[in-house]
Amino acid sequence: MYRDNPLKKISWRGFQKLTPKEKGPYFLRDRRPYHVLTAQQFDRSMLERICDLTTKIRMIGKTKGGIHFLQDLLSEKRAMLYFVQPSTRTFLSFYAACQMVGIEPAEVRDTTTSSEVKGESPEDTVRTFSSYFDMIIMRHPVGGFAERIAWLLSNSNRPVPVLNAGSGKDQHPTQALLDIYTLQRSFENRGGIEGKKIAFVGDLARGRTVRSLATVLLLYPGVKQYFVGPKELQIGEDIVGVLEKAGTEFEICEDFEPVIPEIDAIYMTRIQDEWDTSHESRLMDTSRYHFTARHLKMLKADAVILHPLPRRKEIAVEVDSDPRAVYWRQVRNGMWVRAALMLTVFDRDGEIDRYHEDLVS
Ligand code: NCD
Repeated sequence: MYRDNPLKKISWRGFQKLTPKEKGPYFLRDRRPYHVLTAQQFDRSMLERICDLTTKIRMIGKTKGGIHFLQDLLSEKRAMLYFVQPSTRTFLSFYAACQMVGIEPAEVRDTTTSSEVKGESPEDTVRTFSSYFDMIIMRHPVGGFAERIAWLLSNSNRPVPVLNAGSGKDQHPTQALLDIYTLQRSFENRGGIEGKKIAFVGDLARGRTVRSLATVLLLYPGVKQYFVGPKELQIGEDIVGVLEKAGTEFEICEDFEPVIPEIDAIYMTRIQDEWDTSHESRLMDTSRYHFTARHLKMLKADAVILHPLPRRKEIAVEVDSDPRAVYWRQVRNGMWVRAALMLTVFDRDGEIDRYHEDLVS
């Protein structure tokens, strides 16, 4: 189907030396997204396209005829969900998105039941599995592992697209897509994402969703980003460097409350204590980074609250019923965005445009 295969033209060693931005073009085929591995690979037109498709899919999915149309689009494809790090929401979101566009999903969630216990390398395991499928959707604790697999498969006789569903502490590109879509919908009557003030709160050092979204937001001029958290859990120097280089406005702060009245969107996150080496964050009092019902009064009337979920105590349950809390809508958006992405990867997105055109004409 595709003519070019840029990842076949570079050695693994050469590829590893590239910056995340420089790697982007290697994930395309015929200039379309093929592997989806990093947040830095997206440009503004790709984001606009995915958002537009997502909205069309939402509309098409409202009727029985539309649902059947969607389910037929990729009914000849099978996907493997290789999720060897805890996940239910991202896993189910991808699973539901596969079902929506007719892809048959299969899953590997526990390597103790695979030949990895017989000493097989994880690379061989995934390559073996990939022989049975047309796409790999992967969540892995090791940063860069999905890229390694994409490179390996691109250099095999049977390349298949690899979608990164969260890797290490670094990347979560599809979460960034659904976050952008949620922000875009929230601000559609207020001039879009451009020029908005967006605060990230909580564990910014190990929260990969924050790292991915902070980079993607650079594509929206005038956005000011705030990073609010304890010193020990602040955003990484690498991201700070990227923001500085882009000349974007940002603030790093320890105090949460003074920021609340300033912002248009607040992105709450959980303390990622599974990465602790000696309970360091478990011993920390992070309660001043919780958003409670009291804070609702300080927040602008048209601001929105997001969270990638799962949440613990960082957003009080009483906040859920406030119209500014959009995290449940964010979850549903994720399913549609992932469906749009898979249709794009398999070059079937044009059919969405045509069906939608008929619907509205
Ligand atoms: C996030 C993740 O796995 O990085 N969850 C998700 O994908 N929705 C955030 C988290 O685990 O806290």
